[in-house]
Amino acid sequence: MTEQSGRASLQEMRTDYCGHLNIRHVGEQVALCGWVHRRRDHGGLIFLDLRDREGIAQVVFDPSTPKSFSLADSVRNEFVIHVEGKVRPRPAGSTNASLSTGEIEVLGSRLVILNTSLTPPFQLDEYSEAGEDVRLRYRYIDLRHPQMLNRLKVRSQVTGCVRKYMEQEGFLDIETPILAPSTPEGARDYLVPSRVSPGRFYALPQSPQLFKQFLMMSGVDRYYQLARCFRDEDLRADRQPEFTQIDIEASFVSSEDVMSLTEGMLSRVFREVLNEEPPLFERMTWAKALEDYGTDKPDLTNPLVLVEIADLVKDVDFKVFQQPAQDANGRVVALKVPAGSLSLARKNIDDYTEFVGRHGAKGLAYIRVRDMAAGVNGLQSPILKFIADHVVTAIMQRLKARSGDLIFFGAGHRKMVNASMGALRSRVAEDLGLSTGGYRFCWITDFPMFERDAEGRLRATHHPFTRPACSLEEFRADPESVGSMAYDITLNGYELGGGSLRIHEVELQGAVLEVLGNRATDEFGFLLDALRRGCPPHGGIALGLDRLVMLLMGAQSIRDVIAFPKTQSAADLLFASPGEVDFQQLQDLNIGSPIAELSKDSAVAESSQHKS
Ligand code: AMO
Ligand code: AMP
Repeated sequence: MTEQSGRASLQEMRTDYCGHLNIRHVGEQVALCGWVHRRRDHGGLIFLDLRDREGIAQVVFDPSTPKSFSLADSVRNEFVIHVEGKVRPRPAGSTNASLSTGEIEVLGSRLVILNTSLTPPFQLDEYSEAGEDVRLRYRYIDLRHPQMLNRLKVRSQVTGCVRKYMEQEGFLDIETPILAPSTPEGARDYLVPSRVSPGRFYALPQSPQLFKQFLMMSGVDRYYQLARCFRDEDLRADRQPEFTQIDIEASFVSSEDVMSLTEGMLSRVFREVLNEEPPLFERMTWAKALEDYGTDKPDLTNPLVLVEIADLVKDVDFKVFQQPAQDANGRVVALKVPAGSLSLARKNIDDYTEFVGRHGAKGLAYIRVRDMAAGVNGLQSPILKFIADHVVTAIMQRLKARSGDLIFFGAGHRKMVNASMGALRSRVAEDLGLSTGGYRFCWITDFPMFERDAEGRLRATHHPFTRPACSLEEFRADPESVGSMAYDITLNGYELGGGSLRIHEVELQGAVLEVLGNRATDEFGFLLDALRRGCPPHGGIALGLDRLVMLLMGAQSIRDVIAFPKTQSAADLLFASPGEVDFQQLQDLNIGSPIAELSKDSAVAESSQHKS
């Protein structure tokens, strides 16, 4: 609502938002509505800080309006009130530069209590360290906090900006079903039992992936949607069981087209929402990201890098290094922490050893560089005795080590070294405050098509509709080692979005599904059929809206930018969901009761009777 329309339509209740008042309103008669943020009694004057969505205004009552004065005396924090009065400058010396309304106050002439409030479960008028459970239980009070409301406001600005951009680029906003078949994005499905088809289930979509591909087959050409997605997976600070994607698909496009469209959208968000020039969009291959950072979502604001030293240590007598250095699936890396010897004590190194242990590392070798001028004698480490001096010197040269540096080493299976040393890189940078700050977008490209899961089975690195970066013949010859036409966009260590060019030829899609096992082929018969009926080449991307807003707002968790988020255990504490349901509801759905089983059996018996 603009200030203008507020005046016109709500003249009785409200002429202005509290937070919009400023020195230009002096002399005006205003009507305000909001919550009592704080009440102060100052020798015969009562000050109310009145809060609404847009901010806080100070209202003063004096005894010259006795009725309002005594009402003002009776209000408590979070009462909802209506106030009328005249705007005046604050007396010299009592202005508040930290408030946009800090130069003025309203001399109240009328006060109406619209509603009372119990004492809030946590303070809003001063900093309080309420636990997140209490905040979520009383989310409607938590959201009154100006910082929380501001996050919702920014989120709305981001979605508004995205919609404008996509419409201008010719994309159609099309809704896709929430009651859907299962989609393979790698998480567990939330299932919805069908009442009319006993024993059958819908799945809530993990993403609209197949729907958007079918829209391309339908000739829509350019689709976008702010799509709700549902994934039953382990939750973390950057994951919710339901979240929103900016979901995009287009026909007859290259990867470059999708990437530049995405960059255009994010740049517009930076300019319009943050009032900032957008940062550069960097690029890196998947292999390079793992080599230098141990992860495919590197935080480039962290200056530390992993340096491969397997070639230098493959012949040393130290088995911890030598074995992985000679193994094609092994890795030996060094992580140099500049001046780390001065800032990190033995205790820190012990903590880090325990930390990498959680990622499977059996130890954490290190070298303290006391004095580079003294050569190997200027180094201190429990592993020096195992490694020849010329090898140590070569390592120091590769790392460009300087006096005061601390160097950590990780050795072992490639995946374990990447996971443990990648995590250590982040942890050390955080502990020592090494981040350069700012926003560093980076596209990760050239992903492998498949990876092996913990059980050794092949699975699609993205999803099975991603286009391999090769011909059908090349794919058939060696499916396991082919690359894919997928790209992720990362921001400061988070995967912000991912997409790819898709497979539009039935033979290639069939071959990919076959590699993933027969079940996949059976499950996607409808897709193979559609690919035979005029499917255009197409591709797209989906960005996590919640993650984007979280990062733009510098919030700690995506829960902070979602109005009604769920806890780590996927519960909504305010609405108490998931909740129990009536026995009757379960019965209607043929679920979980012997009676249900019975009625199912009798239904089957009935239908076979009909047939005979
Ligand atoms: P993907 O699975 O990579 O791709 O998801 C795209 C983006 O969605 C966000 N995201 C999440 N955000 C919050 N909570 C979650 N549980 C969660 N899971 C994912 C991330 C992620 O980068 N259909 C494909 C896209 C495509 O190929 O076009 C897909 O869903 O920011
Ligand atoms: P050990 O011979 O196992 O006592 O290890 C000697 C040194 O190597 C110790 O400092 C260990 O912390 C370190 N170390 C052991 N295993 C690894 C590993 N996989 N990666 C890096 N350092 C290790």
